[in-house]
Amino acid sequence: MKNLIRVLGVLLLLMKGGTTSAQQQIAIETEKISLVFTVGTNGRLYQSYLGKKLSAPSKALLSPGNGEAYVPSGGDNLFEPAVRMIHADGNPSLELVYESHAVKNEGGNTTTSIVLKDMVYPVKVVLHFSAFSKENVLKEWVEISHTEKAPVQLTHFASSMLHFKADDYWLTQFHGDWAEEMHISETKLTSGIKIIDSKLGTRANMYQTPAFALATNRPATEEEGEVLLGTLAWTGNFQFAFEVDEKQQLRIVSGMNPFASEYTLETKKNFTTPAFIFTYSDMGKGQASRNFHAWGRNHGVLNGNKERMTLLNNWEATQFDFDEKKLIALFGEAKELGVDMFLLDDGWFGNKYPRHSDNAGLGDWDANKKILTNGVSALVKGANEKGVKFGIWIEPEMVNPKSELYEKHPDWVLKLPNRKEHYFRNQLVLDLINPQVQDFVYKLVDDLLTTNPGIAYIKWDCNRMMTNTYSPFLKNKQSQVYIDYVKGFYAVMERIRKKYPALPIMLCSGGGGRTDYGALQYFTEFWPSDNTDAVERIFIQWGYSYFFPANTIAAHITSWGKQPLKFRTDVAMMGRLGYDINLAHLSETDIAFSKAAVKKYKELSPVIGQGDLFRLIAPTMDGRAALMYVDSLKQKAVLFAYTLHPRYGENWSAVKLKGLDPLKKYLVNETNIYPGANPSLSENGKTFTGEYLMENGLMVSQSNALSSAVIELTEVK
Ligand code: DGJ
Repeated sequence: MKNLIRVLGVLLLLMKGGTTSAQQQIAIETEKISLVFTVGTNGRLYQSYLGKKLSAPSKALLSPGNGEAYVPSGGDNLFEPAVRMIHADGNPSLELVYESHAVKNEGGNTTTSIVLKDMVYPVKVVLHFSAFSKENVLKEWVEISHTEKAPVQLTHFASSMLHFKADDYWLTQFHGDWAEEMHISETKLTSGIKIIDSKLGTRANMYQTPAFALATNRPATEEEGEVLLGTLAWTGNFQFAFEVDEKQQLRIVSGMNPFASEYTLETKKNFTTPAFIFTYSDMGKGQASRNFHAWGRNHGVLNGNKERMTLLNNWEATQFDFDEKKLIALFGEAKELGVDMFLLDDGWFGNKYPRHSDNAGLGDWDANKKILTNGVSALVKGANEKGVKFGIWIEPEMVNPKSELYEKHPDWVLKLPNRKEHYFRNQLVLDLINPQVQDFVYKLVDDLLTTNPGIAYIKWDCNRMMTNTYSPFLKNKQSQVYIDYVKGFYAVMERIRKKYPALPIMLCSGGGGRTDYGALQYFTEFWPSDNTDAVERIFIQWGYSYFFPANTIAAHITSWGKQPLKFRTDVAMMGRLGYDINLAHLSETDIAFSKAAVKKYKELSPVIGQGDLFRLIAPTMDGRAALMYVDSLKQKAVLFAYTLHPRYGENWSAVKLKGLDPLKKYLVNETNIYPGANPSLSENGKTFTGEYLMENGLMVSQSNALSSAVIELTEVK
């Protein structure tokens, strides 16, 4: 009996990683975060800690814990695995133990690569962690390889697995649909699995966004509470699994969606997962978002620290109804308004099947000879002569069945054999896995840019998800279609970026279908929603602000919403400002106001685009909203305040500002005032200490519905 107890004790110790001898510890750290792994006496790798940075003596006290860093399927695991492999001989298990690790240091940021190997089979799994020190962001991705005699099958391939032990877990998710993106809901996780995922193929989101916040013990506010913000850098099917076990421990498994995606891995080849990017803050969601913004600008988005162009787009104003003459007139209007660029949207191409509506022409990227009599290059020239840059819309991954491209290459389309074609917006998805299709897409971009020198911007649209999914190119490897499509998309973008490293390109997907850091490494901004109603946009942009800096969020003034022009302008100023409106419908005063607004925006955009964001009053709270941006030296700040719907008799108190220097003095100046109107701020023109503004606050909320104020705060010495 005694022996049996001893054997059981040893077994338990082995399962838990043991604590008997000095163990190898691997700490991945930023200025404020520690993620610590320990090799157990059984050789397995355990997550010992994730949270606020620990001192060396405290780290030395950590035990391995029982959360295996990257739990394989098979073996003794009873919960959601990170990885599952079926070996060449049919054995469906992995047993991973630590082999070695190495750390690379690049400019103060480290990348730690931990090599795990199977105890019997020639399989390696390398966990990579980049730690962005001053941004306090971690990026994890995994490489899987083997040297078995024949290919293996991968059925699960997480980018990351994280473990938590807290009393409660509060999950914030971001969900919606076309034109109602980024609804925010927070729920307490209960025992079992909650899965947030998508199966849309060409894009990550539409219904669920590949990003979440997880607060431990209690819901986090903007300034308080422990919270992890995470997102997957992947432009396709994703899955986050949140599993609370019987001991109230949580594991979060993040990665590409394993749904219908068994992947064949040839011998000596690498399978690399996309990155899971996350940050941790013990000072609430506001700080976590600021970490993400700084990381996004410095590392996540193409040219994230560079200025963006303001623009006039013609989509909302003209739809498909335009010709060369009309466009040339718009160049003049763009110049008059003071924006940097004119953006020509959908409808400029197709000859045999002209693109007069969304049911024809997609795929035929020759300028329509009747609409653009002198071609695209004449438009570029015309715009430049008027003193504005020229940008153009394309949707290169798609085809209308009514097109010459489809007639020539019916086998270039994703569609199931023996089934009817299934259309969405009258179009089909091209098989971007096929290298010939990749060449076609690359060439269309390259030709457009070389034959029309001077194109200064591209809007890259993608208006449908995959259905009836089948790649003629992949033949008997159909389960790889979801993953290989996205890889095909990235391969094309790599080629484009090699030749055109700096060209601004907007990531658009019929509204917020593609808003992920996987694509944003190739793109400079994204289109958050086709819904440009300014009230809706306050909510939608608020949602995106958890993960993306303001200079990546394209925000256009349109006539979708019927709010006063000033209100619509103030909302668009919180992102990358643009116009998509028929200027001829605006009054002279509207135009004068808009010209001044563009000028003011250019002055303020370094603070808005590069500054720290503080969300002050959420639009979901009480009929108003307020947020502010503060520059890194705390010399300049911009506050946006909106009244949506005040209840009868509403008596709002002052809004306490954040992020200022308490010891500095700031001149408070309301700007962007509609001609003839008075400032709404009673304290306008006065100077206050940062301390006063943060402790006492300003009366920024007005009592009339759909009113707004933009307030500049400038340090005075
Ligand atoms: C969807 C985009 O979101 C719109 O802005 C516009 O470009 C249309 N496509 C054009 O077809």
